[in-house]
Amino acid sequence: MYGNDQCKVSNAPVPEPMGVICAAVYLIVMFVFIPFPFIEWIGMDTFPYAKLLAILSGLISISTAILLGFADDMLDLRWRHKLLFPTLSSLPLLMVYYVSGNSTTVIVPTIVRHLVQPFVVLPITINISFIYYIFMGMVIVFCTNAINILAGINGLESGQSLVISASVSLFNLVQVYRFGADENAAGFWHHIISLYFLLPFTACTAVLFYFNKYPSRVFVGDTFCYWSGMTLAVVSILGHFSKTLMLFFIPQTINFVYSIPQLFHLVPCPRHRLPKYDAESDTVSMSVAEFKKSQLKTLGSIFITICRSIRILYVEEFEKDGEIYVRMNNLTIINLVLKFFGPMHESSLNGLLMLIQMLCSCLAFFIRFYLASLFYDV
Ligand code: UD1
Ligand code: MG
Repeated sequence: MYGNDQCKVSNAPVPEPMGVICAAVYLIVMFVFIPFPFIEWIGMDTFPYAKLLAILSGLISISTAILLGFADDMLDLRWRHKLLFPTLSSLPLLMVYYVSGNSTTVIVPTIVRHLVQPFVVLPITINISFIYYIFMGMVIVFCTNAINILAGINGLESGQSLVISASVSLFNLVQVYRFGADENAAGFWHHIISLYFLLPFTACTAVLFYFNKYPSRVFVGDTFCYWSGMTLAVVSILGHFSKTLMLFFIPQTINFVYSIPQLFHLVPCPRHRLPKYDAESDTVSMSVAEFKKSQLKTLGSIFITICRSIRILYVEEFEKDGEIYVRMNNLTIINLVLKFFGPMHESSLNGLLMLIQMLCSCLAFFIRFYLASLFYDV
């Protein structure tokens, strides 16, 4: 099985999906590891079943995401399957979250409490019950797809996952340190369980990145994208930091929001939106979608007008065979970066996107540890 590297002169075949090998190694490591955190309790009456259940349910979700990704690589699934299957995969995890009596309360920002104080006195925390489960389900569906749609140049899928997983690992380590190794504190265990999943994942991804970076010797495939997204979503749910996880997904969130018109077919969407390769200069530049103006839906035209006026979209109109056509850049942040910085070498583009991902991680830490304390009593 192979894919063709579309940003190379040779358009050479590259083995795909190699994510499945890393995922297999990861599952072997995780399965062998299962008894170790529980050695001290084996044979005792006070065995921490809830913790074992949390780890097992996380592994079910991750295993089924790998299966979904592999099916996508084999069969090129339709969008509705890509939304339905992760929702099903999330059910065991959410069920365990529910029966383990985990919290569904959110803290009300101090500023909101002060603003509405003259009219109503809000409590410090509100239990949003089933809405919290809907939110967690949405986090899982979002994460499993977000990495897959920010893809198409060498090293991008594995690189962004590496930066996010290393950042989230660091976040967990900081939290473990803050709990001061008080093993009985619930928060301590939540972050330790996250690390059990994340450290082997980061290691496997680092190896995959080594082979996937420019010039790619392997392609990661959709198997990797779904596995990666699901692992990050699972650790955030088991670690009780799903809202914080979204901060580490800032580039993916912007890419998703920017992509919405093409994902929901308000404007036509080609099969591949990766950048266009120019063999003469060995650079990549933004790729474009061309379509008849009459094909455009009302919401699509509104989107184009707004984006054009704030200069985040390249649009051109031209006439062909007596019809007006529209040419605009494909709606990914990869093309947006190329619109602002101009054509560049594929490895420089990936380097720039990695830098943006790292800066967003720094921003995430700043918001979580500094700004949050201004808005919340944490
Ligand atoms: C997603 C994107 C699509 C993008 C593709 C690239 C959406 C809705 N879909 O589709 O726009 O073009 O990922 O991965 O945003 N490839 C390269 N160089 C790379 C990586 C991939 O040329 O560094 C090409 C290869 O031909 C490879 C193919 O992309 O075989 C993989 O595409 P696939 O993962 O099947 O595409 P989707 O995930 O469906
Ligand atoms: Mg893909």
